[in-house]
Amino acid sequence: ETPYPENEAILDYAPGSEARRKLKEALTELAAKRIEIPLIIGGQRITTDDMGQVVMPHDHGHVLADYHKASAREVRQAIDAALDARKTWQSMRWEERCAIFLKAAELLAQTYRYLINAGSMLSTSKNVFQAEIDAACELIDFLRFNVFFAEQIYREQPRSAPGTWNYVQHRPLEGFVFAVTPFNFTAIAGNLPTAPAIMGNSVVWKPASTSVYTPYLFMQILEEAGLPAGVINFIPGSGRTVGDICLKDRHLAGVHFTGSTAVFQQMWQTIGEHIETYTSYPRIVGETGGKDFVFVHRSADIQQVVTALVRGAFEYQGQKCSAASRAYVPRSLWKEIKAGLEREIGSLKIGAPQDFQNFVNAVIDRQAFAAITGFIDYASQSSSAEIIIGGGSDDRVGYFIEPTVIYTEDPHFKTMVEEIFGPVLTVYVYEDDAYRETLELCDRSSKYALTGAIFSRDRAAISLAMTALEHAAGNFYINDKPTGAVVGQQPFGGGRASGTNDKAGFYTNLLRWVSPRTVKETF
Ligand code: SER
Repeated sequence: ETPYPENEAILDYAPGSEARRKLKEALTELAAKRIEIPLIIGGQRITTDDMGQVVMPHDHGHVLADYHKASAREVRQAIDAALDARKTWQSMRWEERCAIFLKAAELLAQTYRYLINAGSMLSTSKNVFQAEIDAACELIDFLRFNVFFAEQIYREQPRSAPGTWNYVQHRPLEGFVFAVTPFNFTAIAGNLPTAPAIMGNSVVWKPASTSVYTPYLFMQILEEAGLPAGVINFIPGSGRTVGDICLKDRHLAGVHFTGSTAVFQQMWQTIGEHIETYTSYPRIVGETGGKDFVFVHRSADIQQVVTALVRGAFEYQGQKCSAASRAYVPRSLWKEIKAGLEREIGSLKIGAPQDFQNFVNAVIDRQAFAAITGFIDYASQSSSAEIIIGGGSDDRVGYFIEPTVIYTEDPHFKTMVEEIFGPVLTVYVYEDDAYRETLELCDRSSKYALTGAIFSRDRAAISLAMTALEHAAGNFYINDKPTGAVVGQQPFGGGRASGTNDKAGFYTNLLRWVSPRTVKETF
């Protein structure tokens, strides 16, 4: 049996530590060079005429890499390469396939940890802790736990009556899987192509244009671990060019997506329009937006709430689909919670991630900066809301936005219901005796259902929240922040407009990447 996986321990990079020294070296090394990122199709490095740049979000004049973008031709090549690789890949025993991913996890943990963390810090503006829990620990955990879950799936077999033998063969899907990955987590970017590959599928992988750098590093690690050519084909490019060809291809067998709700719905629509094209119904697995809540009952521990709001809303500049972005606070606690937020947010340092003191770094790009500041401007001009903390921004050197708290008396105010994907928290204060009604309001006022949290020391109040918010979050936290799900501990995903809730980092996700054949033999 595969060893039961342990979660990878988080390194603290304390001053004077060897880890810190090595990470600093990697940061200096990567910042000093400008690399070229090719497409990787069927194991070959492919270049094109169409180029994009990877810049540091916190210093947007600094180019880290030039990357090649796929044109229609390369997308078709990638699909062909994936289909060609199927035979070899599927003829390997599952243990041999899985060994490659366990090896990649080891390479990440032992050899490339500092490199990938430095790449993540520089190219996506993550502080050292955010990089370590994502590009190192969570990605390593996905690989190890998915192998563990794969083994469980392969071993689980039906009963057989005497004189017969029944068994289920967990075959890979018939075709290729299209993985489309987001900028905000290297771990998710790595999980989306590898989870189907672990189950024997071959993959066409389009990373987000805003995060090509660490996916490229990871792709090289997979190759070093022994991934056969063509099993995962890495093709950065425009969503339209790559998406259109992959989604309409008759060999499309599955989509593994994390990104915006609008893009996911568009993909689903395209597949629907071409449904007669495919050999089988494509598996569509997606995790999309959120409008994640922190709901506070009057019995809550105030310091616990403040810490959860600050970390939940502002870690990685709020660019997590799980980020706390709306809070419901009882009037009796608001004064103290507000004072706590002012105190703690006031002490957060903003700046480049190379300075480890900075908790808040830049948002990902100009477009994100414009969208987020647009929400802040809207609130500042509205008579139904007030910006009580932060609100400032500066994009001259990097895309910096202050952690911002908006207060509103309107539970349906724009920033209470729309996803912002930035460092903006909106607080709605409710009357203490309207707890039950406000829970219902929280449930109804958003189309999303990804994460949420209830803070209370009263078991009856917790029970009420559990029931009223039953479908309001796929990941529900009691007295903890709604971010930071750990692979193997809190399977992650949500319903409603937030996705198909197949739970990343759990066997339920891996089951989507097999099409089992049941065999009955009579003797
Ligand atoms: N899994 C991440 C979290 O829980 C979000 O994608 O924060």
